[in-house]
Amino acid sequence: MDSLIYTSVEKETSNCNLDIEGQIPEWLSGDLIRNGPAKFEVGEYKLNHWFDGFSMIHKFSIQDGKVSYKSKFLQSKDYIKSTSANYIKNRSWGTVADPCASIFNKFFSAFSKPEASNASVSILKNGNRIAAVSDFSYMVEFDFNSLETIGEIKFSDQFGNDYMFSAAHSCYDPETKEVFNCLGKPGPKGNFSFIKISESTFERKPFGSLSAPKHTYFHSYALTKNYFIFIEQPLELNIWQLMFSRFLNRPYEACYHWKPENGTKFHLVNRISGKIKTFKSSPFFFFHTVNAFEESDEVLIDLCLYNDPSVIKDLYLDKLKQNGLKKESMGLLYRAKINLKTGTVDLIQLSDTSLDLPSFNMKRSCKSYNFVYGLGLKETQNIEVNNQLVKIDISSGDVKVWYHKDMYPSEPLFVAAPGGSSEDDGIILSVVLDIQKQSSFLLLLNAADLTEIARAYAPVHLPIGLHGMFYQK
Ligand SMILES: [Fe+2]
Repeated sequence: MDSLIYTSVEKETSNCNLDIEGQIPEWLSGDLIRNGPAKFEVGEYKLNHWFDGFSMIHKFSIQDGKVSYKSKFLQSKDYIKSTSANYIKNRSWGTVADPCASIFNKFFSAFSKPEASNASVSILKNGNRIAAVSDFSYMVEFDFNSLETIGEIKFSDQFGNDYMFSAAHSCYDPETKEVFNCLGKPGPKGNFSFIKISESTFERKPFGSLSAPKHTYFHSYALTKNYFIFIEQPLELNIWQLMFSRFLNRPYEACYHWKPENGTKFHLVNRISGKIKTFKSSPFFFFHTVNAFEESDEVLIDLCLYNDPSVIKDLYLDKLKQNGLKKESMGLLYRAKINLKTGTVDLIQLSDTSLDLPSFNMKRSCKSYNFVYGLGLKETQNIEVNNQLVKIDISSGDVKVWYHKDMYPSEPLFVAAPGGSSEDDGIILSVVLDIQKQSSFLLLLNAADLTEIARAYAPVHLPIGLHGMFYQK
């Protein structure tokens, strides 16, 4: 495995025009903003887990057939504290903070509330404001044009900072323009508050709540016309281990425990009344939902499903470099079919091609749809991680892929062609790491057949990163 995939980006890149192979469609105009881990060490200290790398914000601007690129490190509290001390100053997903701190110091800071401001996972744009986000409720605002960090968004509402968890992926209904998320308050029990986030001010308004036996891990939700769906998977947080994690030298991920005997619960929260109906299925783990919709007496939720959360441990950097990822530990596209009359939940596998970091035509949000795009794994003679882009046709089961040896794509994003005649009339955008050229390029594919349209080469290599959005002009 070429370690360039996990090699830190040393410098920010000032705005520069990119060399283009192929032709960018004239109609494609806008900004692709991406977030993801890009710095994996502080001085001589290493961050252990892929999710722990410090956030870098990337911007590819497309206009008049040209592409420009710039990047900035997110100046989160974590980043500033650690880089100025040349030392790891905060606990994170797989890394213990203050690796050389004395037992005495650790004991007296043992009760400190965990903080995690390295918002390195995704972005949330509301009106003219944009913020970097993660599965902690810290949101770090930055300037859309310059990418300069503005600072942590402060909330003076009833939740304040007590609710430390919030999923990196909000749900958005393009028809009603509502943004949904959930806040989780750590405690001996699970306390979840379902919120709508104002499109222009980031203001959070509750519309329902759930008390559960334990706090469990959550990263995304599903949304239909009538329901916000909170999926309670049996990956339980041990709150005492979390609170004492510094003293116990325990990274965050080691405070979560898999309890398959509890099954997975689908909480259907009425979007207006907040009333909840709960349905239970056999246990599974997931990071990402794709789309969801209602059809007569059924609620259908598509997601990238894993048998258990072992993929989290597979993403430790040492393990990734040594073993890569295997097909057995990859996500597969499933449909959860909830029958509202009988109360049953069927989990139906839609394809045997691995897929995660999914995307689809957002005009089909909360509606029946047919095409899912994502990142998958083609197993080769080498140690591999996600190395191909995949398109799955749900109704026919047909699969199309884009694969090139020694090239590592990132999350694909679907951009609909204006006045497009079919669901897959559009373009796929993905940032690809080209190992042989030691640099990355923005790839444009025809979404219908995954054939290449153009590449725009950046002057630097970019780690694979996590999530982004394309904002069309
Ligand atoms: Fe995600």
